[in-house]
Amino acid sequence: GKSGYDHYMHKEIHEQPESLRRTTQGRVNTLTGAVDFEEFDEDLFAGVTQVHLVAMGTSYHAAMYAASLLAARGVPAYAFMAGEYSLMRPPVTDSTLVVAVSQSGETADTLDAIRRARSAGARTLAVTNVVASSLTRECDDSLLIRAGPEIGVAATKTFSSQVTALMLLCERVVADVTGTPSAESRDLLESISRLPGDIQAVLDTSTALEVAQAYAGSEAYFFIGRGVAHSVALEGALKFKEISYEHAEGFAASELKHGPLALVTEHTPVFVIFTGRDDEMTLNNAKEVQARGAPVIAITSHTDGDIVDLADHVLTVPETHPDLAGVAANVQLQLVAYHAANQLGRSIDKPRNLAKCVTVE
Ligand code: M6R
Repeated sequence: GKSGYDHYMHKEIHEQPESLRRTTQGRVNTLTGAVDFEEFDEDLFAGVTQVHLVAMGTSYHAAMYAASLLAARGVPAYAFMAGEYSLMRPPVTDSTLVVAVSQSGETADTLDAIRRARSAGARTLAVTNVVASSLTRECDDSLLIRAGPEIGVAATKTFSSQVTALMLLCERVVADVTGTPSAESRDLLESISRLPGDIQAVLDTSTALEVAQAYAGSEAYFFIGRGVAHSVALEGALKFKEISYEHAEGFAASELKHGPLALVTEHTPVFVIFTGRDDEMTLNNAKEVQARGAPVIAITSHTDGDIVDLADHVLTVPETHPDLAGVAANVQLQLVAYHAANQLGRSIDKPRNLAKCVTVE
């Protein structure tokens, strides 16, 4: 049941401290900076030259997040929408690792992409929430995210568990491929161990309801961020449109001036995600939208200073490693989407036209 919550989505948002604990349970050694996965063969990563991540929807955003971390650590990595990947001749060799990210493990586009990659000679790994799903059968190996069952059509706790599991995977791949843990490994794993508490703090203190109320009836809702926060901007917008039926779009902060800025007015609140990396640049983008009259909602760990001074509203997240900052920021955006949809009386757990699992291409 919904254990006292009005909607499964709200319940599942609140389950994140617990689900994240399960995701990392027994997989992290904060002392040595090593990641221990029990599930698969060590050879899976030996000599990997390239990583492709294939996925759809929210899982694609988690894949983008991971690709940007791997690439930053010197491992060539690319995220593809599985439905598009299936249209190309798989650009793989036997040293390509293709990681399929899917909550359900049953998404048709993702299964198709993995089949094609596999027959073209790639190694394949499923990152999924469902034991014995089709995806786990089609891939050489599987990494379970252990988020627990998710009933709401909107993916919430599974996104944070996907990102966290993929982060552990990234550290492991980097260590195996380069022979040494990444320079960030120890700090990052330490921050991951604090993540459940960080998310709990967001859940306990969030002012997302106020923000949703303040901007109800806007023409459109925009979300911007750079680096890992680009994927969080896309995810924030997907969640918002999916359950509120309002127009919402996410952009890379760098993309604004190349078109989207033309849409920005006083009727289009802009959610700006700060991670603690390249915040100066992102602050400039916030100034640009504010100069067009748009309200700025900053998601940041800062409690004073330039970002807070500029913003019309602040959604605060605990300070953490910049690579991880997107996860707590995303929880704030999940809450905003939830409250916005709830005010509009939407069918939150079963939005119109959508299914939890898309088994046709
Ligand atoms: O089960 P999967 O992770 O493969 O599903 C992929 C998408 O269909 C899914 O994430 C969808 O975008 C969600 N409804 C988003 O909340």
